[in-house]
Amino acid sequence: MKTKAKAFAPATIANVSCGFDVFGLAIDAPGDEVEISLNDSGSVRMKAIFGDEGRLPMDASQNTAGVAVIEFLKSIGKNSGAQITLHKKLPLGSGMGSSAASAVAAVVAINHLFDEPLSREQLLPFAMEAERIACGSAHADNVAPSLFGGLTLIRTNNPLDVISIPTPDDLTCVLVHPHIEVKTRDARQVLKQTIPLKDGITQWANTAALVAGMMKQDYALIGRSLVDVVVEPMRALLIPGFDRIKSKAITSGALGCGISGSGPTIFCLCEGMANANRAGKSIQEEFETMNLRSEIFISHVNKKGAYIID
Ligand code: HSE
Repeated sequence: MKTKAKAFAPATIANVSCGFDVFGLAIDAPGDEVEISLNDSGSVRMKAIFGDEGRLPMDASQNTAGVAVIEFLKSIGKNSGAQITLHKKLPLGSGMGSSAASAVAAVVAINHLFDEPLSREQLLPFAMEAERIACGSAHADNVAPSLFGGLTLIRTNNPLDVISIPTPDDLTCVLVHPHIEVKTRDARQVLKQTIPLKDGITQWANTAALVAGMMKQDYALIGRSLVDVVVEPMRALLIPGFDRIKSKAITSGALGCGISGSGPTIFCLCEGMANANRAGKSIQEEFETMNLRSEIFISHVNKKGAYIID
């Protein structure tokens, strides 16, 4: 039996504008890496965390990678001990699915160590449990695309019903991460718990149209559907210059633009790399005018999801 494994899990764009808590989309990079070695201590421990500037919990029961491994071992009835090394490549509090990527890489690595007793679908609840520790809610819209790749739709959490939606081959994703931090827990607390019926109508029309646009490979329809009248108006207040940035990105070639997950990262979907580069640059320039440094990540949709590195 193997005693050591390392896995990679990619960053994700949760919500994808209209699909709050239901849509998520995986990108190629960056992603977190988790290395696990088994031992006979009977307990799960964090051995080391790199890239977090000492900010993440070393207590495995409070760390998303640790929680995912603990839940996995409980579920398969194994009393093994494990040591976890987390290579944190995603910025914390960025809205790029940072907590999810650590949990997903951890479950993929531990499942590999036991010769894959569980399917990817069966691994999902362990990573969701880790999200509950990190963000106060066991949402699956980051963990599902990070695990499976592509665009995923969470139809229900209970019972868990995850649907993979095909995406056009030349659909590109841009993420621009300004160097400010928004905690998911806080960004969920600013949300109202009820919405007017007319906003509900707009929102479910756009979620359905986005799926249709993806399946018909209709880029213009994808762009028209990237509209969020429910969550974005409240969260936009947490991101300096959001409305201006968004309209500039769209005039620079993006099909649509919104907040990635709970922010502050801004995402665009585009047709092709040239549009993605132009849109990303326009967003970065806007942040620069406000003296905010930012990083850009551009890729096609990642259709593969998490994988074993060695
Ligand atoms: N759907 C979640 C939210 C994702 O927007 O709060 C968090 O990244």
